[in-house]
Amino acid sequence: MKEAQPRTIFLKDYQKPPFLIDETVLHFDLNEQGATVKSRLSVRRNPEAELTTSDLTLDGVDLELVSIAIDGVALSEGQYAVTEEGLKVIGVADTFLLECETLIKPQEITCLEGLYKSSSMFCTQCEAEGFRRITYYLDRPDVMSRFTTTITADKTLYPVLLSNGNEVERGDLESGRHFVRWEDPFRKPCYLFALVAGDLLNIDDQYVTASGRKVSLRMFVEPQNKDKCEHALSSLKASMKWDEDVYGREYDLDIFMIVAVDDFNMGAMENKGLNIFNSSCVLAKPDTATDSTYQRIEAIVAHEYFHNWSGNRVTCRDWFQLSLKEGFTVFRDAEFSADMNSRTVKRIEDVNLLRTAQFAEDSGPMSHPVRPSSFIEISNFYTLTIYEKGAEVVGMIHRLLGEELFRKGSDLYFERHDGQAVTTDDFVQAMQDASGKDLTQFKRWYDIAGTPVIDVDYQYDEQAQLFTLTLSQSCPSTEGDADEKPFHIPFTFALLDSNGCNIPLIQNDDAVFANAPTELVLDFVETEQTFKFQHIEKEPVPSLLRGFSAPVKVKNTFSRDQLLFLMMNETDGFNRWDAGQRLSADIIQSIAEDYMHGRALNVDARLVNAYRGLLVSKSIDKALLSKMLMLPTESYLIELADEANIEAIHHARNLVRDTLAEKLKIELLRCYQENTDVGAAYSADFNSIARRSLKNSALNILLSAGDSDALVLAEKQFVSATNMTDESAALIALVNSDFVSQRESALNTFYAKWKADPQVVEQWLSIQCTSAKSGTLEAVKRLMTHEAFDIKNPNKVRSVIGAFCNHNLINFHNLSGEGYQFLADNVIKLNKLNPQIASRLVTPLTRGKKFNQERQALMQAQLHRILSEENLSKDVYEVVSKSIK
Ligand code: ARG
Ligand code: ZN
Repeated sequence: MKEAQPRTIFLKDYQKPPFLIDETVLHFDLNEQGATVKSRLSVRRNPEAELTTSDLTLDGVDLELVSIAIDGVALSEGQYAVTEEGLKVIGVADTFLLECETLIKPQEITCLEGLYKSSSMFCTQCEAEGFRRITYYLDRPDVMSRFTTTITADKTLYPVLLSNGNEVERGDLESGRHFVRWEDPFRKPCYLFALVAGDLLNIDDQYVTASGRKVSLRMFVEPQNKDKCEHALSSLKASMKWDEDVYGREYDLDIFMIVAVDDFNMGAMENKGLNIFNSSCVLAKPDTATDSTYQRIEAIVAHEYFHNWSGNRVTCRDWFQLSLKEGFTVFRDAEFSADMNSRTVKRIEDVNLLRTAQFAEDSGPMSHPVRPSSFIEISNFYTLTIYEKGAEVVGMIHRLLGEELFRKGSDLYFERHDGQAVTTDDFVQAMQDASGKDLTQFKRWYDIAGTPVIDVDYQYDEQAQLFTLTLSQSCPSTEGDADEKPFHIPFTFALLDSNGCNIPLIQNDDAVFANAPTELVLDFVETEQTFKFQHIEKEPVPSLLRGFSAPVKVKNTFSRDQLLFLMMNETDGFNRWDAGQRLSADIIQSIAEDYMHGRALNVDARLVNAYRGLLVSKSIDKALLSKMLMLPTESYLIELADEANIEAIHHARNLVRDTLAEKLKIELLRCYQENTDVGAAYSADFNSIARRSLKNSALNILLSAGDSDALVLAEKQFVSATNMTDESAALIALVNSDFVSQRESALNTFYAKWKADPQVVEQWLSIQCTSAKSGTLEAVKRLMTHEAFDIKNPNKVRSVIGAFCNHNLINFHNLSGEGYQFLADNVIKLNKLNPQIASRLVTPLTRGKKFNQERQALMQAQLHRILSEENLSKDVYEVVSKSIK
């Protein structure tokens, strides 16, 4: 018989905690066999609780209880009960001191939650519900406590012992052991607790806050990574400064620590004063890290630092409010990255991710609102919707209020809720109260899943010199619902004349012409709404949803000629790029249609000419150009399709790429030469990054098409590169070319050179696993037996299995069904070792809706196979059961 199905938790059932914990005193004894954890909790009844109970129920998973006492008296049998999910203490007083001793086995933990070992160090990951794997506790974010932590361990093996807050005491103990005590003066929920113990080096720096306080910055790494800290530390200082300048927020402790660990489920974690990072998201030097890694590190370091205010000082009441901290913090880190680099390029990258992956999630079986109303396993809700769409929602508030009022709103939010655990409603309320802008209708964005679709209709009346814009909206998830209400959508809009100049926008006659704006954020609040613009002398081209001002789909209304015009003339950088994407997508789609019908294939010459125009343009910004040269990805083309034919898409896209290579060889070679620096020192500024990206795109296009001049250039670049961006770009170009022997020898050389560096080996693995060449699945399986692979390490799993299933679509979706079976096999394997990783990995099997019946049936069969496994984790169960038809 099947075990009982996992329980669903509902937002509507939220109740305040019946007990509070004012003080948490922890004592850890770390040993090679396991760890002993002693806790002393000052517990009292919550005067505000709706529910009064005489028993205290604590969360606890996989703990061995050694002793338990209240107010110094050991409890006897019958006074408490240990269950699968925790511990119940029967009949407690209003205030008492609870002492517990538990035994845990960090060495045996493969799910990487709670206290575990990663190579030679002990570390923790407690968000969302990992603390219950350390000791019995009220493991929920609305229970905030002051923590004092003492760690004892062998002094030679673990000279460094870290926890949150300030170090207050240290000393030697018997038999070669020592201890360090840490005190965190700020109350916090237990998900922000952290502990690290290891033989680590520290790289020190300092930051002086706006008010003149000195903060020590300290990064801890294993000795071999000593020279990979500089970029993270400079990103940290830039973030600290930016948060003071833009949000008026200063850091609040005397020390800020960053630790790098190799085995980590996510990117990083914002534990108070002690951020823990996945090595791949924090370690970099020019010869091992690519430009995109440099930028990712800058963004993640900022993200975790910004959480100190948006997350730690003001935290979430419950996990349904996760986007309160994640959406807001992603918005903050995106603005930071935009200020540090090219704003347009940052927007393009974020929208690209949103439109391919978040839109797919939002129309898939796990679709959920920014504030979900139920879940089975909260780890499954660290999603693109919570993070990226959540950030878009905050961005829309920013757009509606403007810079100044938004700042007033964030000031009010931090002041009003400092030290509290609150909801997304509290956030919106602060924004509304500070700005006076009614956000009632806007809140719908938090509660309704799905991507709204906007239909655009417009007319120009030359006689009346009137331009009429009609917008209508619908949302697939509420289509046909009786209470279907419109969203409040900020729709940024402009009109361009035939020279590409912005036309003044006059909405009513008495507006003074000279003061008329040339760009407006239209408040689009009705199901259908009309906007009129007067004194428009000639027929204009509308510029719609500038900067992607809302996370919606705009139905394409433009002709190819209009798109060409926008591609060359649009003054909004994002829209200019988007016009190019729309044009290329349209052309690829019609070639794909022809391919499916066995018709002759040809590439619209207008696209080639447009690319030529871009390549020879002297005025276009290189950062923008580097993005415009990239064709829409296969994932995005699948997302655009109702039913995607992957072979047709793959073939059509390659044909366009090869045609560009052939027709624009001279321009591409010139682009390569002009953007190649010889002997220059590496710099990660956005202009240098753009130039490397341009040059490497040109090389890739040419070599993919089999150009032999490009082969010479790539081989030369591969051996002479002085940074990883150029070295790996050359390798990628070779691996994706048909020059088999050159490609094999480059892969071997690269591995021999870099096998001791796990971050580089991850790249080496994923470059092979994403190669579109046939037979890749066999190569992927072989790589899983290679010495470089380790199924217990999430980064390796992502660079092999994840890379193949998400980014090698032509091979993953092979009609043999072997790709699907391969994924299911590994999900089943990982379900036992690391449920969070297993559940994330399964995503590509849940995207069947976009494919034909045959593929859907193959995917469903694998989902059923997974579901029939015994001992399925809650994580995998939730995703798979929701994906089965
Ligand atoms: N709060 C972290 C961040 O976004 C993510 C940690 C999530 N961890 C997890 N196991 N679900 O910065
Ligand atoms: Zn975060």
